[in-house]
Amino acid sequence: MKITKAVIPAAGLGTRVLPATKSMPKEMFPLVDKPAIQYIVEEAVSSGITDILIITNRGKDIIEDHFDRVPELEENLSKTKKFESLECIKKISYLANIYFLRQKEPKGLGHAVYLAKSFVGNEPFAVLYGDDVIVSKTPVCKNMISLFEEFQKGVIGIKKVTQDSISKYSSVKLKQIRDRVFECSDMIEKPSKSEVMSLYAILGRCVLTPEIFDVLENTSPGAGNEIQLTDAMKVLANKNGMIGYEFDGIRYDIGSKIGALEASMNIALEHPEIKDKFIELLKKIYENLK
Ligand code: UTP
Repeated sequence: MKITKAVIPAAGLGTRVLPATKSMPKEMFPLVDKPAIQYIVEEAVSSGITDILIITNRGKDIIEDHFDRVPELEENLSKTKKFESLECIKKISYLANIYFLRQKEPKGLGHAVYLAKSFVGNEPFAVLYGDDVIVSKTPVCKNMISLFEEFQKGVIGIKKVTQDSISKYSSVKLKQIRDRVFECSDMIEKPSKSEVMSLYAILGRCVLTPEIFDVLENTSPGAGNEIQLTDAMKVLANKNGMIGYEFDGIRYDIGSKIGALEASMNIALEHPEIKDKFIELLKKIYENLK
């Protein structure tokens, strides 16, 4: 079955980037001139996704506005002959069929994904975390969908992290199948030192079967007293195994101060309009540091 649906959980409180997130969703942080979540929606669309459910919460209406038409702005851009900008903003409204659903309490990533049950129905689907922007040659989500089609098993995006940081993430038990592709039989969220299974953590993307909803329904709150997606995926990994995909490209955690800054800077370095000026600026800043 072709995967055409994706869920973007974007209802986190963003406490690591306060005070910016007091009234501004981190998913709308601009990476130069495009909000983070647009990169994520574009990755999904270029992976063959046609229908996207974004899980939001109170105060995140501007995400919905961003994917809507703005007639008065369009009229202004048309009158002032700014046709390139006009095309650019109109296109955003037609990227995909985008639906929104509110998570009424921040009960965790697992709970946010569970809310997608009736949207997803009985089909496999992709999950793209709303604060993880991944820049890569081929879309990571596309490669993961191909792996799902090949193995007919859920797929998790993984990356190696440091020994010091693994306890902030999850840790997965793996057996390599081929370059970048692993069989995953177990996983744990926020492991203590003695619980670490490998330095590979689940980051930002997964492709799941609808079986996950039955498991999530019976998943109790775990680490941080939140319903953890990892705890539910562990059940599926223990039962039938999952596929771990060590994705290529750079992942930026927009939900962290340094991650948001790193993403903006790297994207600025590739941006045709400001690249040269930005390099000049960086050189100046560097000179002043000496
Ligand atoms: P994070 O743990 O990175 O997001 O969740 P957070 O809760 O906003 O982080 P803090 O407060 O800075 O620690 C990973 C993804 O899951 C979503 C987040 O929006 C993010 O995209 N999420 C998390 C939800 O949708 N609902 C939740 O209850 C928790």
